[in-house]
Amino acid sequence: MQKYPKSEAILTANRRYIPGGVVSINRSVSPEIVFVRGDGALIWDAEGNEYVDYHAAFAPHFLGHNDPDVTQAVEKVLRDGASLFGSGTTVLEGRLAELICTNVGFVDTVQFLNTGSEATYQAIRVARAATGRDHVIGTQGGYNGWHNDVSCNVMTPLSALGRRVSPGEYPYISMSAGVPKDHQKLVHPVNFNDLASVDWVCQQYPVAAMITEPILQNVGVIHPHAGYLEGLRALADKYGFVLIIDEVKTGFRHALGGYCTQVGLRPDLVVYGKAMANGYPIAALGGRRELMYLFADPDASRRVLLAGTYNAHPVPTAAAIATIEKLMRNDGEVYAHTESMGARMQQGLEEMLAARGIQAKVARQGSAFCLYFMDHLPVDWHDLAAHHNAPADEAMRRDLIQRGVYVFPLWTKQCSISYAHQVKHVDFTLQALDQSLESVEALCGAGTNA
Ligand SMILES: Cc1ncc(COP(=O)(O)O)c(C=O)c1O
Repeated sequence: MQKYPKSEAILTANRRYIPGGVVSINRSVSPEIVFVRGDGALIWDAEGNEYVDYHAAFAPHFLGHNDPDVTQAVEKVLRDGASLFGSGTTVLEGRLAELICTNVGFVDTVQFLNTGSEATYQAIRVARAATGRDHVIGTQGGYNGWHNDVSCNVMTPLSALGRRVSPGEYPYISMSAGVPKDHQKLVHPVNFNDLASVDWVCQQYPVAAMITEPILQNVGVIHPHAGYLEGLRALADKYGFVLIIDEVKTGFRHALGGYCTQVGLRPDLVVYGKAMANGYPIAALGGRRELMYLFADPDASRRVLLAGTYNAHPVPTAAAIATIEKLMRNDGEVYAHTESMGARMQQGLEEMLAARGIQAKVARQGSAFCLYFMDHLPVDWHDLAAHHNAPADEAMRRDLIQRGVYVFPLWTKQCSISYAHQVKHVDFTLQALDQSLESVEALCGAGTNA
């Protein structure tokens, strides 16, 4: 196993002042590598090792690390003396709002926050205000942030989750200590691709909102079945709940706007983050005028409080404008390129799996892909957790890292291609993958962790 002495020394020093030594527990993985530089498709660690990056910091770097156009826009805004004023509106936030509303048909108006979690928090709050109801439906296997309404039921062990239920709900299985028990009773996780359970929950409780990723991209790439998202739209209309589509990971990565614009779905509210600013901290919450209006309702008893010292800070706002303008260029050249890199990766991987006789499936949406070591593509978390060969997946990831391909060393985590990835990067990765698959072949039979 490769050693990382410089990374180890930095981590040891940081442990003195940071609990666990790492900011954000989800970044604490083995091998414990400290990265120091990123450029395009590449990143470098403290030892000087170079990697083709597919982690992309959990997916925001859709144009690649330090994209020159985004960097230029940030430098310009700083040179121009744009500071954070915190009083009144700004030209920059107006321009960014216009870009989102004109590119996404169902977004009438939009608000900006710093992170995806803040935006999903506000989406649920405004849904509660609009409906006068408190209950929320979430998706088992989906991630929507760290706050009390959603910090549950992502990669829940099946031993804790119990058998598959439909129609019905799963218990709130908290990812965090400190979530009040009474609050947990308001949240009802159901399976992805399971309309009957959404209907069932709506018959049991007064539901304010359902929040879901349109493709489950925090446990790989699990696609909605044909008709699933449209079915959610119909149930939202039937029961009067607010349909919140969380496009923090899919937004602007799969299309201008995101997966909803790609498939013609009209949610009531949508949340963007990550790829919309190519690595700078900003998120957007947008949707139907009547709902969004509650953030500015002159009647204080109806108004929903959305505040934040750093909301629409000029640096990430300029980064988001530059990112979206680049995505709009030349008839979607960025999307055409990332799709072709994704297709090349998928084809290469599938040929390799067939040649080696390994039981695995490639799941992909444009630039996002993953490998499931099972005989079919999963339809939801239960299916995935019961059939995927997690030890083979993690062994392959660790091996790839040693060969200069950085994939997050946690099973199911999806890989993200960027506009900076070229044929040479994909082909280098495929070569490394072939060697990694050879080295884990013994683990790669039928699924073992059911
Ligand atoms: C789909 C989805 N929603 C919400 C979030 C939370 O965003 P943030 O980490 O910016 O708070 C994430 C983060 O990974 C995400 O993938």
